[in-house]
Amino acid sequence: MEFEKVKMAVNNCLEEIVKTTKAETLAVSKPEFKYEDGDIKIIFYAAAGRAFLTNIADIMTSVYKQNVAIDCGWGYSVIVGNKYGYGEKAEEQKDKYFSVTLMPENRYREELNDKIVFSKIRDFSDIDLQAMLKIIEKMAMPEKVKEKMAPEKALEKLGAVLYKPNQKYNFSSIVGYEDVKQLVEDAVILPFKHPEVYKGLEERTGLRNLLPKAVLFSGPPGTGKTTMAKVIAYETGTNLVYIPIESVMSCWYGESEKILGSIFAWSSEFERCMVFLDEIDSLATGRNKNMHEATRRLLSVLLRHIQGFSSKDNTMIIGATNKKEDLDAALISRFGNNVIEFRLPSEKERAEIFRHYAGHIGEESGWLAKMSKKMSGRDIEEICLDAARIHARQMISGASSEEMPDTSAYREAISKRMQFPEDELSAFEFPKGDKGEN
Ligand SMILES: Nc1ncnc2c1ncn2[C@@H]1O[C@H](COP(=O)(O)OP(=O)(O)O)[C@@H](O)[C@H]1O
Ligand SMILES: [Mg+2]
Repeated sequence: MEFEKVKMAVNNCLEEIVKTTKAETLAVSKPEFKYEDGDIKIIFYAAAGRAFLTNIADIMTSVYKQNVAIDCGWGYSVIVGNKYGYGEKAEEQKDKYFSVTLMPENRYREELNDKIVFSKIRDFSDIDLQAMLKIIEKMAMPEKVKEKMAPEKALEKLGAVLYKPNQKYNFSSIVGYEDVKQLVEDAVILPFKHPEVYKGLEERTGLRNLLPKAVLFSGPPGTGKTTMAKVIAYETGTNLVYIPIESVMSCWYGESEKILGSIFAWSSEFERCMVFLDEIDSLATGRNKNMHEATRRLLSVLLRHIQGFSSKDNTMIIGATNKKEDLDAALISRFGNNVIEFRLPSEKERAEIFRHYAGHIGEESGWLAKMSKKMSGRDIEEICLDAARIHARQMISGASSEEMPDTSAYREAISKRMQFPEDELSAFEFPKGDKGEN
């Protein structure tokens, strides 16, 4: 095989790795190619470590379908076709065969401190080349890449989570909010499921930006914005990449930008993909408010990624914030007019949410709703949890033998969270339960 052909195969292999991995750097140095009197040598520096010898031996055994020998002398050489095993004889035979030599701890290089030499006295055969490329691939692939098979895992490591469609979260998991659900259906679900309809219309009418690519959920905490992300995954039947912005923010200089970049790169692996940027307010406070230099940098990187990602087909970005008024103007403008407000629930909705989390209370949901003025869905869910715990304690202490928590438990739980002063509280008439009054 021509030397040039070997060279080209190695370079192509490295290029291919760079292309598919999106890694900025390979885990190996640039190769050196040497060709003297028919003796081919290809030299790499890598942070392989002595343990990498096992990898080399395994790959060679599987490619050549015969055992290999490891010879210690000038470094550690793995040799194919050597029948003599270790020692002098092996040394004699070495040059006849394709060998890979690992010399650990080159003290002159800081990171890539192992020298790896592929060599053969005469030209490489096809099978030699095949073995070499496999070893190079193994050696050059950064850790990240090995997870290529499992983007889910990679995303998790980066602080994002993949929400797969799960029937547990569907539109009925969010009680009430019919107007909000309609907006989500119109601005997110339909466009994402049938982009071709919108694109066709764009073409026929000449209207631009008919297809929504970025939508912002805004509203107080506990009003179901994050839950809506899971609902959307189910209702569109798509994987949704959930990015809690806070978890991306790292104290290491420049680290956050890299993490964010990798998350978007992994997300692009999916044929169709939705990205949910949760609690963007933790990052994107207005420019005038003495924004920290690192935050400012991350914001501009985020803006670029939003732009790039949403310009692709079959993608959509959803952002969520508890404090829209604090958001950076450039960031808000990325979402255009597509802002969906998650308000606090109305009294009627609060009653429904109470019945959702405490089905047995029936009529009493009315006064619970009155007392939970200005509370969110999450507050109500927590009140119901709290009431159930109070009841558990009463059961254990023998104070109650009822199967379900009664009025007194809800009264106690709700009083703890009341949003208005005591005197206003006295205006409420508590219904008289068994233990409700005393
Ligand atoms: N309308 C609602 N119906 C049922 N549960 C709700 C409702 N609103 C909020 N919740 C519950 O409150 C909790 C917090 O909601 P979450 O989606 O995290 O709110 P946000 O992201 O807006 O802060 C969730 O467990 C959710 O199920
Ligand atoms: Mg949330």
